[in-house]
Amino acid sequence: MANVELPDVTEDLRLLLGQAVFFDPWLGALTERDLDPRAEFALEEHVSAFLAQYWTAQEKARSLGAMPVYGQVVHDVLRTAALSTSCMRGVYEGLPRVPDEDGVHRLFVELAEVADMHGVGPFVRAALAVLAYEDLLAIEYFGGIREDDFLTGRLHRPWVERPLDDELSVMLAVGTCEIALREDVRFIQVTDYGKARLVNLSQALKDAGYLSRRVQALYIAHFDEQGADYDHIFDRLVPSVPAVRRDFLEFCRVEPGSRVLEIGSGTGLFTVETGLAARVGEAGIVYALDPSPEMTLVARRRVREKGLRNVRFLFGRAEQVPFEDGSFDAVIGCLSLHFTDAQQALSEAHRLLVPGGSVSMFWSLPWDLKRIPVFAEWIAPLQRMMQHPKESGFTDRRFLTLDDAEKLLSELGYVDIELREVQLQHEIHHVEDTVRAILSLSIYQREFEQLPWAAREDLIRLLLARGEELVQRHGRAAFSFLSSAAFFRARRSPQDEIPRQQGRVLSLERMRRERISRAANA
Ligand SMILES: C[S@@+](CC[C@H](N)C(=O)[O-])C[C@H]1O[C@@H](n2cnc3c(N)ncnc32)[C@H](O)[C@@H]1O
Repeated sequence: MANVELPDVTEDLRLLLGQAVFFDPWLGALTERDLDPRAEFALEEHVSAFLAQYWTAQEKARSLGAMPVYGQVVHDVLRTAALSTSCMRGVYEGLPRVPDEDGVHRLFVELAEVADMHGVGPFVRAALAVLAYEDLLAIEYFGGIREDDFLTGRLHRPWVERPLDDELSVMLAVGTCEIALREDVRFIQVTDYGKARLVNLSQALKDAGYLSRRVQALYIAHFDEQGADYDHIFDRLVPSVPAVRRDFLEFCRVEPGSRVLEIGSGTGLFTVETGLAARVGEAGIVYALDPSPEMTLVARRRVREKGLRNVRFLFGRAEQVPFEDGSFDAVIGCLSLHFTDAQQALSEAHRLLVPGGSVSMFWSLPWDLKRIPVFAEWIAPLQRMMQHPKESGFTDRRFLTLDDAEKLLSELGYVDIELREVQLQHEIHHVEDTVRAILSLSIYQREFEQLPWAAREDLIRLLLARGEELVQRHGRAAFSFLSSAAFFRARRSPQDEIPRQQGRVLSLERMRRERISRAANA
């Protein structure tokens, strides 16, 4: 059959992201796993009612043109869109990631608002594009997938409960895939048209900001899964870190009585154990900001156990903090800058500081792998992936050098910049912890997230096996080494002027309440 002209979905994706609507099969599955039966029931009811209202024959013709859709696909994508939207909003706004029954009702009030304005076309087109991207990426990655493996999702979406036959029919009908017999076994392979479509879809997903948003969400979901294990893994792998945190606290020179924003406060190791909260004292206050509820849960426990009364927790990301200009005397980040978009985070910090206020960060410098040959050998498979970034084009790294940091700070208008390089002692002979850290904490996150599911599992197994073998061969001592990290401190110029504003704090909670009441009144 002739190839069907497929829609460009960049604008659809932009529109949905702009409305905080997100479609992602992995996040959807992660959320579905923990859904309670009442919420599950409400979800099904809402999806059916939503489609009955909006997915009319005219809407279908208008949205998809000649592109066919079969069976349950639209129902399933809407379900996934609702679940992953809930997860994403949870991550960004500090709401529960898994909605309860009421949460499902509220979510659909908001989805209906979007559908009233734009129809249901953007949801369906964007979702089908993401699914096509996942399918084509996996089939291409494995050089063809056996038809029965594809249908069960074994290699790329093992959590699906129904065979993926509807999706396969679409791909065959539009000409992105074909069936080929290999020694009498039916394989699905990507056609030339499908290859071109994959390049074009990757570009659209990248341009709309979808891929980077997904990577951030998965990043955060990983931190969330680590939660309480974080301290223990970190302590074992980087035993010198507590001492360096103490040096960093001295370096920050926070005054008692200061109002401090700590970004990426995690489990509260710096806030509580190192003593940031104690340093600002009862007259001061620390707003501890982190996007991971699980990490924050541990931090809350720490604060309670120490009986501290000057720490407030805030869910969110350093790139966008819901406080007015000039709200803080100091913004501090301990081992978190390299998880943010540094340019945005430091520009936001600048806005938040009073004139003369200080920003201080402790972050990892890029690693020179030549200096750690056993580690280089261990992670060679990941390094190879970095040299051949896939179509999605993630090549930028988040680790700033000292020069990058200095340049960025002066471009953003900071003054009195101080930089200090420090050394961290690593002990990475504990193979499982190291691989978990590589998976969730490291610069390789992006490569991982671009892999189809089974390839990712294979890579983890490979890294575990390589690690065990290398530790056996070289002995534990070879896995102790130093890496470089750095501190900076800089100030917002004392001459800056802050525009006058009304009311001091605009909280996420207030923004959320306003959105919900707008939706309810509509
Ligand atoms: C390596 S931990 C550091 C935690 C703590 N500051 C410490 O010293 O142990 C990094 C933290 O940054 C958080 N994080 C990730 N992305 C972030 C973002 N965009 N903005 C703020 N924090 C972020 C993670 O949730 C995690 O808790």
